[in-house]
Amino acid sequence: MAGRILDGEKIAAAIKAEVGEEVKTMTAAGVRPGLAVILVGNHPASEIYVRGKVKSCEALGIYSEKHTPPDTSSTDELLALVRDLNSRDEIDGILVQLPLPKQVDAKRVLMAVDPAKDVDGFHPVNVGFLSTQRPGLVPCTPEGIIEILRRSEIPIVGAEAVVVGRSDIVGKPTAMLLTNHHATVTICHSKTRDLPGVCRRADILVCAMGRTGMINRDYVRPGATVIDVGMNKITDRTEFEKFFKGNEKREKSFAERGSTLIGDVDPHVADIAGAITPVPGGVGPLTIAMLMVNTLKACRMRRGAKVPALAETR
Ligand code: GUN
Repeated sequence: MAGRILDGEKIAAAIKAEVGEEVKTMTAAGVRPGLAVILVGNHPASEIYVRGKVKSCEALGIYSEKHTPPDTSSTDELLALVRDLNSRDEIDGILVQLPLPKQVDAKRVLMAVDPAKDVDGFHPVNVGFLSTQRPGLVPCTPEGIIEILRRSEIPIVGAEAVVVGRSDIVGKPTAMLLTNHHATVTICHSKTRDLPGVCRRADILVCAMGRTGMINRDYVRPGATVIDVGMNKITDRTEFEKFFKGNEKREKSFAERGSTLIGDVDPHVADIAGAITPVPGGVGPLTIAMLMVNTLKACRMRRGAKVPALAETR
């Protein structure tokens, strides 16, 4: 029997509605949360992501501004922009969209963001807060994964969780959050021995390594929950047929556009998983919803509101 499809759009909409209500109350009391997004150059995927972030702010009543320095910007120019945003009281959150152009020292730019305004949760101060279970700003995609599990009533406490991928943005913070929520966590990567065998131990399998449809049925214990963080584009017909042959909806959109989106998980895994996030429409929408949550949280924390440590909230 096919697994339950975890609808990220629906969960994200519920979270955004909650944020919208809080923003309304705060704005009526004279405090409007504000987010500044920095988009350097014209990376096509980044432009789409940033447009979604700004649109969500508008929909929820959060003040937003977009800064678009040119592709040729230097590290020093971006540092000056970040410092200016750090100093402005009406800006609660600062997001530097990645990737940055090659000539820019991305780590230096991210380090320059005031940790209190670091709505991506990438600053080492926030990474430290997360690893020591102190209140802070948590990376959006990992926090979104926890929200999907929590709101879908998938138990985390005591679960065997396997995270494939060890990036600073997704893999490592997801593993840390799952640990803080009392899962037993294994992090895997390209050098892991017997990856399918390790993955088959998982009650919760998080796939975040950026490899088109790599996690097939050999990696999944029947009944497991599979979270697919991948976002890959397929343009090759043979590759398309390997994953989507017989899927009428996909056939139609592939014929129209010449491409389709796929995660790190082979769609046939849905036949044996207990629950699975689709691509698109799974984890992706949560990333933006959690950015809205973090902007609100930064606004409250900067004004002295006590935000409970993660361990106290759930
Ligand atoms: N590029 C791809 N994903 C992200 C993200 O979550 N945050 C930022 N800042 N850039 C990204």
